[in-house]
Amino acid sequence: MPNQTAASLPTALGLDHADPELLTALTEGLTAVEDVLLTIVHSDVDFVDQAALHLVKAGGKRFRPLFTLLSAQFAGGNTDDVITAAAVIELIHLATLYHDDVMDEATMRRGEESVNARWDNTIAILTGDFLFAHASRLVADLGSDATRIIAETMGELVTGQMRESVGPRDGEDPVAHYLSVVGQKTGSLIATAARYGGMFSGAGPEQIAALHRYGEIIGTAFQISDDVIDIASPATESGKTPGTDLREGVKTLPMLYALADDGPDSDRLRELLAGPITDDDAVAEALTLLRRSAGLTRAIETLGDYAARARAELAVLPACPARDALDLLARYGIARTR
Ligand code: IPE
Ligand code: IPE
Ligand code: MG
Ligand code: MG
Repeated sequence: MPNQTAASLPTALGLDHADPELLTALTEGLTAVEDVLLTIVHSDVDFVDQAALHLVKAGGKRFRPLFTLLSAQFAGGNTDDVITAAAVIELIHLATLYHDDVMDEATMRRGEESVNARWDNTIAILTGDFLFAHASRLVADLGSDATRIIAETMGELVTGQMRESVGPRDGEDPVAHYLSVVGQKTGSLIATAARYGGMFSGAGPEQIAALHRYGEIIGTAFQISDDVIDIASPATESGKTPGTDLREGVKTLPMLYALADDGPDSDRLRELLAGPITDDDAVAEALTLLRRSAGLTRAIETLGDYAARARAELAVLPACPARDALDLLARYGIARTR
């Protein structure tokens, strides 16, 4: 994934046709968030500095801080607290990426070598903790409500990650398990990103609640989309290695649907997906079969249901350029390839 400047980020996330004044506000907001990130992620120990800045500098889409900034445009816009809140969200996200790549034994992140691959698991875990520490320090500036909310969000996120690792309980429907896990591990933080935007721009309680629900739906769809990308997009687009879920034996929605289907490749897919795949040729074969499977098509169709639910939530918010842009951002989050 190319390293982008704050100015190019909103358009890269599908907002090219958003209101020009709004785009200027978002770009200014993202530039301010970058400044906070680069200032706060700092250590006097060179090595810690290098490991912590590795992924900050590698770029990334900044989808979550943009969500916070956009959610703030219904009320007071880019207040100082909104900028701080957006930076807190990105820092928490970054920390979870350091830990997630250890769990998933991933070797590529944001188009660069992952920290666990470049250094080792210990460094990746401790650097993730270092970023959590900075996020905690920063969120303290926003008061006790914000601190409690992010603590609850983290609890939910790690519960989702743990439930994914353990898999569905005996007799639990695997698709229901999957959908609830992705809501927890990814929907929760994107929901809080939107909620923070409403809270720190002075929006009313009904709008904050609608933004929160909207973020949860879009966040869940964002993860389903990520799981489609793990199968369908090349590394040059995603900045990550395709087939990581297959290697880890994590059964994502396209796989679950493909396994439930009785197509010509079903028997072979069941064999391949019985557990984690270690062999490169077997990963390539599973990817080929999944790419042409009805399961992949059905997962993409499910994304359409989430888009419709999200649009219903938007109706609660007043019609304005920010609402149109939230719709565009949702379309991007759902139909993206990276
Ligand atoms: C990756 O998130 C982890 C998921 C929850 C899917 P992003 O796709 O937003 O990653 P970056 O921030 O752009 O690298
Ligand atoms: C990441 O999920 C979720 C969190 C970091 C909380 P994935 O493991 O599916 O995301 P990628 O594909 O590595 O980005
Ligand atoms: Mg992962
Ligand atoms: Mg993971």
